[in-house]
Amino acid sequence: MTGGKNLLVSKKPISWLDGVNPYTGEITQENHDLKGANLKGKIIRIPYSIGSTVGSYTFLKLKMTGKAPYKIILEKPDAITMPAVLTGIKVEVLGKKTSITLENLEETLPKPLLKYLKLDGESNGATKLIPISSAHVSGVSYKTIGDAGIKFLEDLVEKKYRARVLTTLNPAGMDLERYREQGVPVKFAEKQLEIINLYMKLGVIPTCTCTPYLVGNCPLSGANVSWAESSAVVYANSVLKAKTNQEGGIKSLVSALTGLTPNYGMHIDINRKPRVKVTLKVKTKGYEFGLLGFWIGKQTSKPVYIDGLVNFNQDDLKCLGAAGAASGKMEIFHYERREKGGKEKFEENLVFSGHELMETKEELSDFSGKPDLIVLGCPHFSLKQFLHLAKLMENRRVKKCDFHVYTSRAYEPYLKRSGLKGKLERAGVKVFYDTCMVVSPLEEIGYRETATDSAKAAKYLKTLSKQEVFIDSLENLVETATK
Ligand code: F3S
Repeated sequence: MTGGKNLLVSKKPISWLDGVNPYTGEITQENHDLKGANLKGKIIRIPYSIGSTVGSYTFLKLKMTGKAPYKIILEKPDAITMPAVLTGIKVEVLGKKTSITLENLEETLPKPLLKYLKLDGESNGATKLIPISSAHVSGVSYKTIGDAGIKFLEDLVEKKYRARVLTTLNPAGMDLERYREQGVPVKFAEKQLEIINLYMKLGVIPTCTCTPYLVGNCPLSGANVSWAESSAVVYANSVLKAKTNQEGGIKSLVSALTGLTPNYGMHIDINRKPRVKVTLKVKTKGYEFGLLGFWIGKQTSKPVYIDGLVNFNQDDLKCLGAAGAASGKMEIFHYERREKGGKEKFEENLVFSGHELMETKEELSDFSGKPDLIVLGCPHFSLKQFLHLAKLMENRRVKKCDFHVYTSRAYEPYLKRSGLKGKLERAGVKVFYDTCMVVSPLEEIGYRETATDSAKAAKYLKTLSKQEVFIDSLENLVETATK
């Protein structure tokens, strides 16, 4: 099986999560030259994959439906595709390989998991596995991992594997307590609770948030960690200065269960240095940080230095990184002011002006006017954002649409005791914990037109939740909701 009709070749990266139909094996990615081709039994050669890290679970689904490819050839190793080997799909990474010895490792470590880390490490030029101080695991929603994911987790539980380091969990497909009010179908809710239960049996703490750094999983500068959830990865590398690659959900779980990760990529200091300079010719504000990140992610996957970023806060950086990882493969950005007249050389110089800002907004917007639903909290809303929203909602009420905010359940006592939650709910804003607009089944609940202030959410609401989308500032969305 080396050529002809059994070989699919493309120079374009693929998004396994939303660019492939796991039930038919068909490639569905818009503007992809392999669109319409079927993966079943084929050898596919691509440069690498893009998009969300939960894309790894697509391989389990493809395996279960009998539509899996025979082999994937990558021109560049990538953490989302590599776990395909755990499902029996062959993966070959072109280029130089190293060798990692497992001899000196603790005897009780699970051998099959170590083998996968070894393969992943050697394909990426690592020479050793290194200890991690924490893991953050994605692939939680039943919507994304399905029955194949449940089977995978059951298998790990049966083998009595347990997390060896602090391990937190990404959002689930529903609010674990108010799912009925959310309109989540019963079958979905049962499956979702089963998934959470399985993760807990593996020793994973069910934080169910994409902002683990706001709820206790906050590594020190320089710490090696293994995080999935692309938005948290960019934040960890760029803001916290911890070190993590953009792991797939499966790999971060394997790292949690072994306490180890291969030493390559963002774990090596030289790879973290900025190679592309982005000069800002426009002052970004609020949701525009997401538009900037989205645009950068489309231009380059290399570490960037953003020159001219001013008046930003933690939430702005959170949204910038989330969007950069959603539109491309951003893992780190630098934003601290450099010395004037410094001699730093960049491989590429890019300019982001008002034109690029407007173009990105237009690209992400399908309609204007009143949506069925307004969603905030991608990445999960922070306390600071709640304070801001409560202020904007003063003496206002949501009319003729639904208005959801998604956040971590860790905030529940603060929001209740401070009266913020009551105030927002009286104004017609519903606060949901444990989940988000992208991983909950909005389309099954009946929403069709959704507005958001998040560039990442805008992208995935279109592709994963079949929504018509429009993106705008928080202030304008409040205006739209209440007029
Ligand atoms: Fe978080 Fe869901 Fe957005 S996991 S980053 S709120 S898509």
